[in-house]
Amino acid sequence: MLVSPSVLSCDFGNIERDTKMLHSSAADWLHIDVMDGVFVPNISFGFPILEAIRKHTDKTLDVHLMIANPDNYLEAFQKAGADILTVHYEACTHLHRTIHRIKELGMKAGVALNPHTPIEVLTEIANQLDLVLIMSVNPGFGGQKFIAEATQKVARLKALRTQKSASFLIEVDGGVNLETGTQLSIAGADALVAGSFVFGSSDPIATINALKAI
Ligand code: DX5
Ligand code: ZN
Repeated sequence: MLVSPSVLSCDFGNIERDTKMLHSSAADWLHIDVMDGVFVPNISFGFPILEAIRKHTDKTLDVHLMIANPDNYLEAFQKAGADILTVHYEACTHLHRTIHRIKELGMKAGVALNPHTPIEVLTEIANQLDLVLIMSVNPGFGGQKFIAEATQKVARLKALRTQKSASFLIEVDGGVNLETGTQLSIAGADALVAGSFVFGSSDPIATINALKAI
């Protein structure tokens, strides 16, 4: 299982310490949640924080854009250090163009789906994606309750991947812990995001190990 701890739940007063902790842990990626207060009802952080994280790790930065008009910022996210850039289906009118621009910039391209968005909207573009992010909460906040329907959605997405001979990774974000993570693994998830479960635990390194072992 690929594990991508969400920096959103870290201690921002100690971002260097927490980034180094994740760097030394078994985490595969670092999940970076960018929120603009327009696409989602919350504001998180932008380029300076991403650049600060980039300075302290060479692990894959898995950037999740919860912003309107992501096309305006793709190059800036590449310059700030993003390795995987995931945009929301619901925020992109011309998703095909957006995905190709992300790839032209040398990043892996992901698409996130809100809980209400059916996976079938990706049928025509499945072959061009590096990652699909299934939201198992409504985006905007850490620490929310897992929406159980996400598990079936993962299973159906895996079937779609086979049907289309596509190769994207399936990542799930929101309310992930050992119990929900195990269900998601059985359904076919390749990568799990976990914020409050990692940073709210007394031993984040051990918690990451436990998620890795799912
Ligand atoms: C939610 C974010 C998530 C969040 C997950 O909008 O996209 O990445 O950090 O937090 P937990 O794991 O606490 O649900
Ligand atoms: Zn996220």
